[in-house]
Amino acid sequence: MSISCSTLADIMGFDAYGLRDLYLDRAHKPHFDYDVQRKHAKEATIVRVLKRIDSDTQRIGGNDRYKVWESGWEENYVALSNSKDRESSLAALVPAYIRPGQIMRLNGEYVKPKSKWLELELYSILRSLVGESYLSDAPHVYEFGAGTGYNLALWAKENPAIQYTGFDFSRNSVKLINLAAQKLCLPFTAEYFNMVEPEMGPIAIEPGSAIVTCGSIEQLGENSHKFVDWMTRMPFKRGVHLEPVMELYDSSSLFDYLALMFLKKRGYTDSLLTDLERIENEGRIRIVKKHHTKFGSMMMDGYCIVVWETV
Ligand SMILES: C[S@@+](CC[C@H](N)C(=O)[O-])C[C@H]1O[C@@H](n2cnc3c(N)ncnc32)[C@H](O)[C@@H]1O
Repeated sequence: MSISCSTLADIMGFDAYGLRDLYLDRAHKPHFDYDVQRKHAKEATIVRVLKRIDSDTQRIGGNDRYKVWESGWEENYVALSNSKDRESSLAALVPAYIRPGQIMRLNGEYVKPKSKWLELELYSILRSLVGESYLSDAPHVYEFGAGTGYNLALWAKENPAIQYTGFDFSRNSVKLINLAAQKLCLPFTAEYFNMVEPEMGPIAIEPGSAIVTCGSIEQLGENSHKFVDWMTRMPFKRGVHLEPVMELYDSSSLFDYLALMFLKKRGYTDSLLTDLERIENEGRIRIVKKHHTKFGSMMMDGYCIVVWETV
């Protein structure tokens, strides 16, 4: 099977017309081919997923997580320091949790991609669409929990007229992002910020700018409410979130229920959309998009999209 342009549009929740150029750019490569897992293969994957849920010990927001992020981003920092050209610098920014050659979730099925980088390829298309549709009119884009800075690098390469700032509570992430900007000659910088205590890090936000989070609000677990409230009170014009938004999963389907079991076991944030809807009811923001983006790792669809604007 291969992903058609209209299927891709459904998966991503964007218009097929706007997606056409990005699709054609990549469709000539064998990147979009995959085999759907059926019968025994599907059953074997479900058993793997259940065993993984059973044995998984990771606790989101646990005391050990800070150290895990620091050491993960240090590995990327070393790889980036040793990179000799632009291509290897960009490769050094890919986080290790995007693992090549794995079974993936795609449009409601477990699939085995022909290309080992299908998840990253799809995520890059999604980020380009997000950049084009929701970030291109902002003078400044701020990403919170920016990790290696590979989102900032992608957006800054595609739209260098905008200024980009990444924030993270990992000092190695900040170091890594600043080195990446230098090596890639792109307009972004990074600073320290702890999303659990947003009021502690007074930062100047350029009015009319955009805030982005990609898989970072998910990391706050039960401590996400303060950050969500804070960000909607800052002078951002728009917020864009690519997160495993649990409220968008269909708990009556086995496929989604398995992912929800995993997300709940780890304690990922389960209230982003609920909090934003409450704030919308208070009249402070308007939610302009919410979509369950239907691709991800074997365990979850981590790139659901929610966009809001201040009113
Ligand atoms: C799953 S990674 C996502 C990184 C990046 N946004 C991406 O798309 O690859 C989560 C990021 O959130 C950061 N993070 C976790 N808890 C945080 C907190 N309390 N304050 C700031 N950053 C945090 C981690 O250091 C890590 O960089």
